[in-house]
This record gives sequence, structure tokens and C-alpha cells, in this order.
Amino acid sequence: MALLERLLLFLFVFFISCFTRSQGGINFPLDFWNVSGLSPPEKYQTITVDQSGQGNYTTIQAAIDAIPSGNMEWICIYVKTGTYNEKVKIPREKPMIYLKGGGKRKTSVVWNSHNSIERDPTFISEADEVVVKSITFINSYNYPLGSNHNPIMPAVAAKISGDKSAFYRCGFMGVQDTLWDDSGRHYFKLCSIRGAVDFIMGSGQSIYERCTISVIAGFLSPQPGFITAQSRDAASDPNGFVFKDCNVIGNGTTYLGRPWRGHARVLFYNSTLSDIVVPQGWLDGDFIGTTMKDLVFAEEGCRGGGSSLSGRAWWETRLSKEEIRRLTSMSYVSEEGWIEKQAFNMLS
Ligand SMILES: *[C@@H]1O[C@H](CO)[C@@H](O)[C@H](O)[C@H]1NC(C)=O
Ligand SMILES: *[C@@H]1O[C@H](CO)[C@@H](O)[C@H](O)[C@H]1NC(C)=O
Ligand SMILES: *[C@@H]1O[C@H](CO)[C@@H](O)[C@H](O)[C@H]1NC(C)=O
Ligand SMILES: *[C@@H]1O[C@H](CO)[C@@H](O)[C@H](O)[C@H]1NC(C)=O
Repeated sequence: MALLERLLLFLFVFFISCFTRSQGGINFPLDFWNVSGLSPPEKYQTITVDQSGQGNYTTIQAAIDAIPSGNMEWICIYVKTGTYNEKVKIPREKPMIYLKGGGKRKTSVVWNSHNSIERDPTFISEADEVVVKSITFINSYNYPLGSNHNPIMPAVAAKISGDKSAFYRCGFMGVQDTLWDDSGRHYFKLCSIRGAVDFIMGSGQSIYERCTISVIAGFLSPQPGFITAQSRDAASDPNGFVFKDCNVIGNGTTYLGRPWRGHARVLFYNSTLSDIVVPQGWLDGDFIGTTMKDLVFAEEGCRGGGSSLSGRAWWETRLSKEEIRRLTSMSYVSEEGWIEKQAFNMLS
């Protein structure tokens, strides 16, 4: 080959390698955008949902339905301020959706079904790679308390079953089984979760960071409520709920958790536990083949009127420093860095 041809071939290969697409964006070498001082291009398409008809759709579900199955590029659904009375589902075959509201107190999704915890949550997210920001999900079957005469029943506000899902400044409101943190690796930051009985439940592998856990168990008094019902099934399963720098507040009294399955794992770390937490802290269960010693229910470095360990269940787990470090590091849920890679994360 002539020198010129070789040079052209080199440049061709160089540019092809530079412009390979990743996460819907373009990878420039040498951090082009930093060096150039320009801002990166819009990396994703936005669909606007507006109840007044000035967006692309008037319901959230219509926007999701419009996204093709097998979607492989991040797409933002921006949901303008308003109360959306609809059930919303992101199906398994539609990953890479970024659902963004106008604010935790401004955009809410409200529905009131309760017959099936599988099918009737207000919000169901089954796809991998989902980011939700600034939206509150409510199951109004029993919530707000006293708003109707329905008997208290499991009524799920959100069921999260996909992997690599992150929630920032979101609200989850209900009374029983509010947030079904079902399966996959999840990260919740600056969220508010409200309920009275088993209101954070399931076998998700999750970190809840700087979240407000708002207990409304006053109506059960003198019976306590339960914050968590974790459902890890075997000692080798990686899932478990980690509450880091959280705030437990509310009325009535509450246990930190009871197990849904025999190897349930929950850690409260560096959190403020108000005096609504009962002294014994945890309740055990009755499962074939396991005992309370198979449960991993632990606390480390918490403060507040409900944080004293002196009256705790004798079988509460004392985790090693290494295990606490492992469970409270971002790598517990994001070993390969998926959270860091998502363009709209709120890590800093
Ligand atoms: C590029 O800029 C971002 C945001 O200002 C910064 O976080 C990142 O460290 C910079 N990268 C390099 C290679 O300078
Ligand atoms: C949404 O509406 C805007 C403004 O009418 C339009 O430019 C855009 O193409 C629409 N997007 C979709 C995905 O329909
Ligand atoms: C507990 O707090 C909730 C939410 O603020 C409120 O609706 C409920 O009435 C309170 N219950 C009691 C018994 O104070
Ligand atoms: C513990 O939580 C407090 C309050 O949220 C925070 O300021 C502090 O950095 C946390 N400490 C550790 C060791 O995580």
C-alpha cells in the first residue's frame, strides 16, 4: 500500500473506533468534551407527558407503550407536574428508560388496586436499567389512612423486579406492602418510603441511602408495625436490604423487621432511629429448616431514641467490620459500576 492509503486507512479505523456508540452517546477519545470546554450533546431523546395535552402524551403508560420493545438507547420520559391516576408498567423488554417527574411533591402516580400483589401495584418496573427521579407512587386503597373505609390489606405502590434500577428523590406511599423491592440490584437515594406493615419487602439486593422511612403505625397501637419483610431464601443468595444514613421517623411503634423467608438480611447503618422502634428491634419467624440464627438482622453505628441495642433480640447478628464495609459500599449493588455509568445518576 502507498503511504497515503495507509494513512487514510489508519484515520478511518481511528474514527470508527472513536465513534462507536455506547449508552446512546458518542465516545470521544481523551475526554474531548472536557478538553474542548463544550458541553456534551443531548445524549437521549425525551418524550413529554403532560395532562393538559401540551406534551407528546397525556398518560405515562401511553409514553411507555410508544417505546419500541428491545429498546437499547436511553430515553427520557419527562412527566410534568400533576397527579396521574393510572397504573404504570415498564415491561421487561423495554430497558433504558429514565422516568423523570417534576418533583417528589409535584408529580405523583396514584392507583388503588389491591386484589393481587403481583398485578395490582400502582407502578411495576420489570426492565433492567431503569432510572426514576422526582416522582411519588401511591397506592390509595388504604392511603391516606382514614380517607375511606376499606379494610387494611396488602396494597403495593411499587414493585421493582428488574436489575440495575435506581431511584432518586422518589416517594412510595401506602400502608401495607408499600414497596415490593422484589429482585435485582437497586439503589434508592433521598427517597421517602411510608407505611405501617411490611412496607419494604422482597428479595432485592438494595442500598437505601439518605432515605426517610416514615412509619404510620399509630392506628395499630398498641401493636407495633414492621418496616421490613426481607425474603432472602438461602445463605448464599446475595440479596438483602441495607439502610445507610437513613432516618426512621413516624407514629405508633415498629419493629425494624421480620423475615419473609428464612435467611432474611437487613442492615441499618449509621442511621437515626427515633423512639418508635421497639426495644427488641426484630421479630423472628417460623420456617422449615432454619432458625433465628440464620437471619441476618444487624445494626451498626445508629443513633436516636430507638437505637439502643441493650433490649434487642438476643439473636441479632453482629457483623464483622469487613462485612459491614462490603454491604455498605456502592460495590455491593454496583460491582461493575452500572450506577456510575448511568448518565443521570445523583451520586454527588
Ligand atoms: C470531566 O469533567 C467532569 C465534570 O466536570 C469531571 O467530573 C471529570 O473528572 C472530568 N474528566 C477529566 C478526565 O478531566
Ligand atoms: C414530542 O413533541 C415534540 C413537540 O411537539 C416533537 O418535536 C417531538 O418529536 C415529539 N416526540 C415524540 C417522541 O413523539
Ligand atoms: C400518623 O401519621 C400519619 C401521617 O402523618 C397520619 O395520617 C396519622 O393520622 C397519624 N396517626 C396517628 C395515630 O397519629
Ligand atoms: C453518618 O451519617 C451522617 C448523617 O447523615 C453523615 O453526615 C456522616 O457522613 C455519616 N458517616 C458515615 C461514617 O457514613
